[in-house]
Amino acid sequence: MRYRLGPPLITATEIQARIQELATIISSDYADRDLLLICVLKGGAMFWADLCRALHIPCQSDFVAMESYREATSPLAEPRFTKAADVALADRDILIVEDIIDTGHTSARLRELLWAQSPRSLAMCALLDKAERRQVDTAIEYCGFIIPNAFVVGYGLDYAQQYRHLAYIAVLEGVLED
Ligand code: IMP
Ligand code: MG
Repeated sequence: MRYRLGPPLITATEIQARIQELATIISSDYADRDLLLICVLKGGAMFWADLCRALHIPCQSDFVAMESYREATSPLAEPRFTKAADVALADRDILIVEDIIDTGHTSARLRELLWAQSPRSLAMCALLDKAERRQVDTAIEYCGFIIPNAFVVGYGLDYAQQYRHLAYIAVLEGVLED
């Protein structure tokens, strides 16, 4: 099987318009709070960069990275941080900035790990929600787009570390070799 990039599923213009809408809602919800954006590397980086610049309120940012379920040393082991937050999270209003919620496992585990550090509040802002694929219930307080069950790349999301730089989201299509 080879793969090729399909046409844009969500264009750069649509992404930027939705980010402005989300930023307006978040700016209103977090006015006079102590907002700390926690960007989940690597996929959330481009979304974080645009979202934080569209906010109308002060905020701080930090970055975490998670071991994936596939990389976990044993199937029973819960994924850990490969990079934890540098700043103290106690009593902060934390908004996680994620690229995509698929099965929900990563997000559910991430919420557990962050809650253990006693923030005042914790919410999720995910650009994409592949809702049909959910295996674990996990809240998404701010969602960019609900998408169908397909493997997507671009705007931070990768396949084998490729395609992250695209300004839009596209489906990676499988092509049978002849
Ligand atoms: P989960 O299944 O919700 O735990 O998602 C785990 C991670 O898989 C996400 O944070 C993404 O990094 C990655 N992922 C899931 N679906 C896609 C996709 O369609 N394209 C690229 N990465 C994906
Ligand atoms: Mg991710």
